[in-house]
Amino acid sequence: MMPDLFTIIGPLLRSIDPETAHGLAISALRAGLIPRPAAYRDAILQTTLWGRDFVNPVGLAAGFDKNGEVADAMFGFGFGFTEIGSVTPRPQAGNSKPRLFRLVGERGVINRMGFNNDGAEIIAARLADRKSPAAGILGINLGMNKDSTDAAADYEFGVRALARYADYIVVNVSSPNTPGLRALQGREPLVALLSAVAGAVAETGLEPRPALLLKVAPDLTDEDIQDIADVAVSQGIDGLIATNTTIARPESLVSECRDEAGGLSGKPLFGPSTVVLSKLYAATGGRLPIIGVGGISSGADAYAKIRAGASLVQLYSAMVYDGPGLAVRINRDLAALLRRDGFASVAEAVGVEHI
Ligand code: FNR
Repeated sequence: MMPDLFTIIGPLLRSIDPETAHGLAISALRAGLIPRPAAYRDAILQTTLWGRDFVNPVGLAAGFDKNGEVADAMFGFGFGFTEIGSVTPRPQAGNSKPRLFRLVGERGVINRMGFNNDGAEIIAARLADRKSPAAGILGINLGMNKDSTDAAADYEFGVRALARYADYIVVNVSSPNTPGLRALQGREPLVALLSAVAGAVAETGLEPRPALLLKVAPDLTDEDIQDIADVAVSQGIDGLIATNTTIARPESLVSECRDEAGGLSGKPLFGPSTVVLSKLYAATGGRLPIIGVGGISSGADAYAKIRAGASLVQLYSAMVYDGPGLAVRINRDLAALLRRDGFASVAEAVGVEHI
């Protein structure tokens, strides 16, 4: 087997400022400079949802490719789907730097990026320019501008600009870095927001219609979870993403930057995000597909999310530590775990161990 180049480059990348390292990774991916792992395909991983065929259930989470620059490149690294964004209507610089921190010992990340992105129109033009037909499933994650006074109008704008490029659209109301955003998860604001966004998606007249998903925070009470489940089902939302980063700081964190403001992701998020995923699965009676995200870094982690109620999974932070070959390893190990336990597909294992 070829040695994984990341075992050499990884420590180097981690020795420089995290945001600079991320920028370098995006530039290298755009230029095709990062060697791709051998393709891995296995029929047991094939998953169909929302009328779309996913070659495998392992996706790239929002925030890595905020501007839709490397979606196609990432399919070459074994992801079955990628999610770009969050995209806001107008371009936005985000918070002042530094705003991205590694918690190396804990394999965690804290970020307070603040939806830095090129804005919906530039990103739409970039997606319109994609040369080859999409090699995988594309999700587009929508946010609102920091200075916006009308949340629904911002998400509707995103839908009008970008829905035609999306297999699924995400209403992200769970970033901790836009003031007031997470309050949109409450019952009444959520009904108003989701009915407006669903209306905008219907108005596009797109066939097939992109699926509409809601991405939630891990910092929710049981009552919040029940409210979200009820509203998602009653508003005809197609799925949920659980979860975004957490504002909590588990006792176990020892890194110096544990007290930086922002959202925590990576390994320390695995437990809390899986509990919320599982409770959402129970609260929706398994009627809505859920994408499980938070702290996944192995096939066993992906399998645990699926057993807890996830139909698909995503990751971001673990790539910081394990490199771009990670998706292939996770898929290979996940396929073996499914077979070990006698499942013939991912779908069969969904929710077998939910709360
Ligand atoms: C994120 N995440 C994120 N989510 C989102 O919906 N919109 C966004 O713009 C971003 N931006 C972002 C930036 C950075 C630097 C990180 C680390 C994360 C959250 C991400 O999609 C995911 O939900 C969490 O990071 C949990 O997954 P991991 O990272 O533990 O695998």
